Order: sequence, then structure tokens, then C-alpha cells
Amino acid sequence: MKKERILVTGGTGYIGSHTVVELQQAGYSVVIIDNLSNSNISVLDGIERITGIRPDFVEGDCTDIDTLRKLFTDYPGIKGIINFAASKAVGESMQKPILYYRNNLDTLLNLLDLMGPEGVKGIVFSSSCTVYGEPDVNPVTEKSPIKKATSPYGNTKQISEEIITDVIAAGAPFKAILLRYFNPVGAHPSAEIGELPNGVPQNLIPYLTQTAIGIRKELSVFGNDYDTPDGSCIRDYINVVDLAKAHVIAVERMLTDKSEAPVEIFNLGTGNGVSVLELINTFEEATGVKVPHKIVGRRAGDIEKVWADPTYANEVLGWKAEASLADTMRSAWAWQQRLRERGVM
Ligand code: NAD
Ligand code: UFG
Repeated sequence: MKKERILVTGGTGYIGSHTVVELQQAGYSVVIIDNLSNSNISVLDGIERITGIRPDFVEGDCTDIDTLRKLFTDYPGIKGIINFAASKAVGESMQKPILYYRNNLDTLLNLLDLMGPEGVKGIVFSSSCTVYGEPDVNPVTEKSPIKKATSPYGNTKQISEEIITDVIAAGAPFKAILLRYFNPVGAHPSAEIGELPNGVPQNLIPYLTQTAIGIRKELSVFGNDYDTPDGSCIRDYINVVDLAKAHVIAVERMLTDKSEAPVEIFNLGTGNGVSVLELINTFEEATGVKVPHKIVGRRAGDIEKVWADPTYANEVLGWKAEASLADTMRSAWAWQQRLRERGVM
């Protein structure tokens, strides 16, 4: 039986596309809105090849409330929203703070404004472990202190969490689940969808796979003098399909009135801290492909180490990261090879 209609903003993006696949496979009907500022329409073909279903798609900007109003009229009965639409490059946000505050916050405010009147029962919001800044203690739990944001991008996530909490405290007739992602990596095992960054990648895995295939000469490892066992930074790399599955659970929880509080917050990570050098090793061992790399100076603003305590999500959502890091690296590599086959890069 077909389940409810879910609106996925930013649904042709990296995490959004993987989530649309999981939603459709769980029986939900999906309508995507995306302005294609950081994704490509061909992602819909990938989703259709995996699921056999082409999701409804509106090309539009969530900062325009009239576009959203029209969407709710054209696609009646939306019961849940997953809000991925945002600008997400930390460095760019330092250069263009107004763009970041406007895009990320206007999008959220418009959705919150319309949800009540449109009868939407819940919203899932993409937050980030950046809200913890440089933690005093690892792993971090949802109760760990929120540190002052080090970028306008990080600040939009903190402010967004506060806006949602305030709106619901003021009596809004819907629920929210804030998901704090650690470092999403990898691609769908079919290699039909994956991460497709514009230009030179800022993030580790796309830079690594582009180096492995020869697009980039060598990977720079930003620092080996941190207070970590091998001196390189530590993160919690979470498989994107595992991450996507948590969104389906979160939507289901709100739509079936299982939330234990009007606003719930969950860390989505594996619980394992992995260093940059360990990650390169894992990739090389998993794929048999060497990654030329060199140690360079630290990158300004980098956190030394952060990883999740995912116990709360494990116990309350019944969700657990399952993919091994080696399988995740193989999926990232298969996706990079697929892009080459298709002549994308
Ligand atoms: P992404 O850039 O691949 O996807 C975001 C999508 O939103 C893109 O398709 C883009 O075109 C669209 N978009 C942006 N502004 C829009 C607007 N105003 N109207 C309509 N569409 C718009 O990014 P992603 O990695 O999939 O991230 C999804 C969400 O998760 C973002 O909110 C991001 O901040 C958050 N997040 C990502 C990471 C990460 O490392 N990838 C970590 C923590 C949190
Ligand atoms: N790194 C390198 N070389 C590179 C790129 C990255 O050594 O070419 C290192 C970084 O120094 C860091 C680690 O790899 O130690 C991971 O870096 P990423 O840029 O991939 O990820 P970040 O942890 O810096 O930040 C990412 C997203 C943020 C998000 C955060 C938490 O970019 O938007 O994860 O979810 F908020």
C-alpha cells in the first residue's frame, strides 16, 4: 500500500537523493523541490533506475514562499518534510555570509510558516556535528555542549535548531526531528547516485577518489601534528545509505505519533573515530588503488577530533550504522569510476 506523500527539499543533492531512494523503497510517495544550485536534474534518472519510480520534481527555490505555496496546492496531502535544501560549503560561507544566512534560514522559515496551515505533521532537519565545535570530550552525545560556531554555515545550523525549537514551543501543530550528521561519505551500492561536487572538491573523499582516478595529482593531508595517535585529524565517517535510512525512520516516527518530545535530536554517526591517514589506508586496502598524498600544513578552522556517541539513535530510533568503512570506500570508488564511464569527469 502506498504511504503518505513526503516533500524532500534539496532532494536531487547528495544526501537528499539517497534518502529519496530509501523513502520510495519504503513505500512513500515523494515530491522533490530543488533549485539545482548544487545538483543535476539527471539525478532523477539514477533514482528511477534504482527504484523504478521517478519522483515528482519541482524546479524551484525554497526561499520563495509563493513557489512553496504553489507546490502545496499542486501536490496536496504532504504529511512530512525533510529539509536538505541549504548552501553547505564552510569556506564559501566565510566569503558570502549573507547568501548563507538568507538561503538556509529563509528556506527553513518558509517551510515552518506553511507547515501548520498545510497540515504537515513533522519536519526532519539536516543539522551537523559542527554544532559541537571542538569538543572537550569524545565521543559527543546529544547533551554535549554547543560551542560557538566557527563559520556562518555552522551558525545557520545552530540558529536553525533554535528557530525550530522556538516555533514548536510557541505551539506549532507539528513535530521536528533534528539529525546531527557526522561525516557522510560513500555512494549508493548500485553506483547510480553519489556525491558530485562542483569544481575542486573541498571534502576529503571526493578529493581522494578524484586523485585515485588521476583527475588530481595528489591529495593534501591537512596536518600531521595534531594531538591524535598518527597526528592527522579524526572524524566519524558515516555511510550515506545508512544515513538516508535514519530519515525514513524519523519520518515514520513523527507520522505515527511515536515521538517522545515535540523536538527530538539525534547524532547520526558510527561511533568510530578514524584519522585521515587511516582512511587513506582503508581506501587503498579496500580497492587496491594507491592514493598519492603528501602532508601539508593544517587547514584553518579544522576541528582536531570529533566522533559520535550514537547510543541514543541506536536505542530510541532502532537505527544503527551498518556498512563497514571498507565497503563504503568501495562504493565511493565505484561511483567515481561510473562518472568516468559516463564521461562526467
Ligand atoms: P547538497 O548540496 O548535495 O544538497 C543540497 C541540495 O539543496 C542541492 O541539490 C541544492 O541544489 C539544493 N538547494 C540549495 N538551496 C536551495 C534552495 N534555496 N531551494 C531549493 N533547493 C536548494 O548537500 P548535501 O551534502 O546533500 O547536504 C544536505 C543537507 O545536509 C544540507 O542541509 C547540509 O548542510 C547538511 N549537512 C551535510 C553534511 C555533509 O557533509 N554533506 C554534513 C552535515 C550536514
Ligand atoms: N582533509 C584533508 N585533505 C583534503 C580534504 C580534507 O586532509 O583535501 C581532512 C580535513 O582536514 C579533515 C578531514 O579530512 O580533517 C575531513 O574533512 P572534510 O572537509 O571532508 O570534512 P569536515 O569534517 O571538515 O566537514 C564536513 C562538512 C561540513 C560538516 C561537517 C560535519 O564539510 O559541512 O563535515 O558534518 F558540517
